[in-house]
Amino acid sequence: MLFKNLEEIAAYIVDDGKGILAADESNPTCSKRFESIGVASTEEKRRDYREMLFRSDGMRENIGGVILFDETIRQKAADGTPLRDVISNQGALFGIKVDQGVKPIDGCPGETVTVGLDGLDERLREYASMGAKFTKWRAVIKIGSATPSKNCIELNTKALAKYAALVQANGMVPIVEPEVLMEGGHTIDSCYDVSRQVLQALFEHLEDEDVNLKGSLLKPNMVTSGVDCSVQASVDEVAERTLTCLKTYVPAEVPGVCFLSGGQSDVAATAHLDAMNRIGGFSWKLSFSYGRALQSPALSAWGGRADNIRSAQDAFSHRAAMNRLAAFGKWSKELEAD
Ligand code: G3H
Repeated sequence: MLFKNLEEIAAYIVDDGKGILAADESNPTCSKRFESIGVASTEEKRRDYREMLFRSDGMRENIGGVILFDETIRQKAADGTPLRDVISNQGALFGIKVDQGVKPIDGCPGETVTVGLDGLDERLREYASMGAKFTKWRAVIKIGSATPSKNCIELNTKALAKYAALVQANGMVPIVEPEVLMEGGHTIDSCYDVSRQVLQALFEHLEDEDVNLKGSLLKPNMVTSGVDCSVQASVDEVAERTLTCLKTYVPAEVPGVCFLSGGQSDVAATAHLDAMNRIGGFSWKLSFSYGRALQSPALSAWGGRADNIRSAQDAFSHRAAMNRLAAFGKWSKELEAD
């Protein structure tokens, strides 16, 4: 696939209701997921699992981009085909997670900053030469009684902007992911307030770094109640609060807003996306970049066994199709049962 510029790459990924499969779990995170189904996480098992997802029928119509981890971008399928080619043959672009995780912030107990700017330029050059068309960097913001601090928001959003500028200089589209975590007992009001501060700071820094917003994608959290909050917001409330926040702070030039699922159930993540697209009134494509919410049913159906591949692929294809419908505001609960 030939693209004239970053704008065309970004537009391609979210074209026609398509979204992103986040398959960029680090090896420790992948081990945790595999543990939940009683499978040991070896390099070969991780390859088998991801190959199974990438070869699913539901990839072609519903997935415009796949985010990979460093191990996967170098791996070959069982028949020797690079996994990168398996993805391209399905009509999707592949991208790569380039942050290197989080480290504690001095003087800010319990808070972290995402690292990985050292040596990033060189790593980006290699990924671009392998054919990666986009990248991802995730900042993590935790809501607590005294957090997040201004410092945490500043450090994380500044790093996101520096990352984005470097990625564009290397000819790839940066996915900019500022995640306000769902973990905690906070209310939806607190989530709104923190998400607002983070987005405001982020777009200021992106402007300072001269990032071309038309050649970038935003991957935000939805505005929800904390998982341990006693009052859980309804689907309509999550949709309304999230859209109000995004409409106020996300410039219209951003071509796509692709949510993370952050621990929502698979159906809840679809229902929220659908509700927002039914409300409408925004210029960006509003789509998905889900990890768990796209993969969970497939992971359980697979259970590490080759004879379950077909049903696991069907489970993945179903979730991908449901989310594409949600990106058009055309999903319904009844379709889940079909
Ligand atoms: O960085 C986070 C992942 O790419 C998205 O994963 O949808 O499971 O939160 P999630």
